[in-house]
Amino acid sequence: MRVLGIESSCDETAAGIVVDGRRLEANVISSQVDVHTLYGGVVPEVASRLHIERIVPVVRAALSQAGVGWDKVDAIAVTNGPGLAGALIVGANFAKGLSATLGLPLIGVNHLAGHIYAGWLVEGIPDPGIEPGFPLLCLLVSGGHTDLAVMEGHGRFTLIGRTRDDAAGEAFDKGARILGLGYPGGPVIERAARVAPVAEPMPRAWLRESHDFSFSGVKTALLRRAQEMGINAGNLAGHVAGPQPDTTVVGALARGYQEAIVDVLIRKTVDAAEQFGVRGIMLGGGVAANRSLRDGMLRESPVPVIVPPPLLCTDNGAMIAACGSQLLALGLRSDWTLDVLPNLKLDYAIG
Ligand code: KG4
Ligand code: ZN
Repeated sequence: MRVLGIESSCDETAAGIVVDGRRLEANVISSQVDVHTLYGGVVPEVASRLHIERIVPVVRAALSQAGVGWDKVDAIAVTNGPGLAGALIVGANFAKGLSATLGLPLIGVNHLAGHIYAGWLVEGIPDPGIEPGFPLLCLLVSGGHTDLAVMEGHGRFTLIGRTRDDAAGEAFDKGARILGLGYPGGPVIERAARVAPVAEPMPRAWLRESHDFSFSGVKTALLRRAQEMGINAGNLAGHVAGPQPDTTVVGALARGYQEAIVDVLIRKTVDAAEQFGVRGIMLGGGVAANRSLRDGMLRESPVPVIVPPPLLCTDNGAMIAACGSQLLALGLRSDWTLDVLPNLKLDYAIG
């Protein structure tokens, strides 16, 4: 079964094609980041308009990358939440139009579940649902979410922990803004941290009584340290005249900040894996592209860790196609009443 997956929940217009839920045939992503960078973050209205402009060429490019025509596509999967309402509507309505005109089954996909299904697209490993097999512990770390969930079967997630304030990706983005490093924050903090010889110590919120996370404390600590060291985003960006802050200082702060976030993510995930007796750990979401998180989790975990290649960690249509394939195989379908759900949670019942 060949499924076309469409993704437009935030600032990437994307389409992917996946065969039998595992074989990646196309993955086309048109990022709007260059536009939103000008505003220091995603502007919802701008995102919707760019999705409208780009969705047709992106889907066409996916078909041509896969080398197939419409007659070889068996179903359409589309992100219907969570995300920006206006952005989601573009993808959902486009998918409904395709499904109606081509007479193809349609399935709405939870974007958060989609991130986890990127693990089914990792080449050269067995089907994670079979080996290591369910239950799997999922750490979903994206710009808007930090969730720990036990996955008991396809499409079945039980949330055991979540962030109480900022998501991990949001913490990276806000941290980068404090340090004047630009947007999106994860990649730029990672780059600055990699070349820093030392790390400035930063606090960790363990919340030992639960599997929840909290990143607002470390963000405030970074802000305070940056101010003490005479750094503010304005003078780093060259907007304020005067001496430019020492890049070694910025690097040490970036490295300490990244270590604090990653350390908590790894230790709490490993603890939960032991406590819940899961067979493996699945990592997903944009922050899973982070090298120290990937390497650290592989090093510390007592069970196999499945982590998609970076291009499949950040938003893409292939993960939506992969998740949609499994839901369709369970016999689930959406119809023309499919609505967008901007606040959808990972454990929202499917169907
Ligand atoms: O999953 P994603 O592409 O979009 C959402 O669904 O939110 O995640 C985007 C987030 C951003 O906050 C970005 O800063 C973060 O993922 N990110 C990273 C890295 N690459 C992207 N965070 C840490 N290290 C990275 N290399
Ligand atoms: Zn995402």
